[in-house]
Amino acid sequence: LCAQTSDYDQPYRPQVHFSPEEHWTNDPNGLVFYQGEYHLFFQYNPFGNQWGHMSWGHAVSTDLLHWHELPVAIPEHDDTMIFTGSVVVDHQNTSGLCTHGDCLVAIYTGHTQTSEGIRQTQNLAVSLDKGRNWAQYPGNPVLDLHMADFRDPSVSWDPIAHHWIMAVSLPKEHKVRFYSSPDLKQWTLLSDFGPTGDTNGDWECPNLIRVPSSNSARTIWALKVGLNPGAPQGGSGEQYFLGDFDGKAFHQSHLRGSHGWTNYGKDDYCAISFNNLPKDQKPTLLGWMSNWQYAAKIPTTPWRGQMSLPRRLSYISDAAGLALKQEPVVAPLRGKNYELSALSINSSALYGSGHTIQPPFEIRLQFGHPAEAVFGLRIYSDQQHWTEVAFDANKKEFYIDRTHSGAAISPDFPVRTTSPLITTRPYDLTLIVDRSSVEAFAQDGTIAMTDLVFPVSNNLQIQIFPDDAKPIQSEGQLWELKSIW
Ligand code: FRU
Repeated sequence: LCAQTSDYDQPYRPQVHFSPEEHWTNDPNGLVFYQGEYHLFFQYNPFGNQWGHMSWGHAVSTDLLHWHELPVAIPEHDDTMIFTGSVVVDHQNTSGLCTHGDCLVAIYTGHTQTSEGIRQTQNLAVSLDKGRNWAQYPGNPVLDLHMADFRDPSVSWDPIAHHWIMAVSLPKEHKVRFYSSPDLKQWTLLSDFGPTGDTNGDWECPNLIRVPSSNSARTIWALKVGLNPGAPQGGSGEQYFLGDFDGKAFHQSHLRGSHGWTNYGKDDYCAISFNNLPKDQKPTLLGWMSNWQYAAKIPTTPWRGQMSLPRRLSYISDAAGLALKQEPVVAPLRGKNYELSALSINSSALYGSGHTIQPPFEIRLQFGHPAEAVFGLRIYSDQQHWTEVAFDANKKEFYIDRTHSGAAISPDFPVRTTSPLITTRPYDLTLIVDRSSVEAFAQDGTIAMTDLVFPVSNNLQIQIFPDDAKPIQSEGQLWELKSIW
């Protein structure tokens, strides 16, 4: 059962991100902490590396980083595919499905093709053995609107009202619908949120999260929802709304910044947060590191698809308004450390003359007040191939440019992804570079930008630019990261 290190050493195989040993994955599902284990379930095709036969794959971890893959948790059955959903710990056995004390209950979308067409309904499954084995609830479905598009339930316990809250999507209507339930079986309609914000595509994978302030005892509610296709960077993307959930309905704040994007790159979709985290942990988001535009063309084998790093969530409220703040969980993997200035990085050094480093690694640096219009860094994988991560003070943009990064895989792939810059926020940068991805966090974590890259080699060189490098206070750090496998 236990995969060997060598099974995770193929070209482009992520070393600090979860990927299944083989076959296809998309959205993370049922993220939950229970009895010392973090569970990652995921949309999975047990039979191949294309989307199909959707089932819930399963992996567990004790630190959110080292994942141990387990057998399929909830397989497709009777022509019903197991689509995205969540897992809750039923502490008080409200469902009556637990036999001794508490248990895990999955609430997922069943996707069934019938003679009348497609039907999507909400269903339960229960596990009495820490998520290893699951039984379907005989009373399924628990929620059926006789619709073809009604999916991705996100369920959590409301400790004030003492009942469960479900956020679920009506994708074609651009609505998140809220329900409540005393027992996970009977659901009462509370309200609809939307259409609002960006309605260019289907709304999928909603998640309602209570988010703490980064510097006070306050909290805010965040509602995030996937958009596919039609996101600003092309294909699938994720918007968030900040505001208040009054127990029945979500109200978006009128402050600036109450609408944003959980990710400004192309490759972070259907992120959801962990249920039942210990109280001292901030809400933690994890997404699928791909995009429906080209997910089927990712040039990896024998698996296809990987997850983002987990990110701790808080929010900031400053002169520019509100923003969600994300901090990647990565520090426990840090190994050898370098001062960036000691690596003889400067833009005149050609590939081959500087220090070469292999992924995975992490970079953290802070730029001083920008005098130059464009400043940042390039990651070369040979003389002709690089990925650029930079701030453009003129255009007021932060960007990742992967137009020269390596394998193009599809016409939608070689792009420059951008995010607006707030000039009053710091010009800091955290970069996590793995064998086929770059995850960037900038401006105090208020910009998260995740982009896949398929470089031409694993021997990378970092360059800070511009040439004279004068405006740049580049006392940055680089850490080699230890592989999780
Ligand atoms: C989003 C999504 C979900 C659905 C799942 C099916 O990526 O389309 O809406 O539940 O994938 O695999």
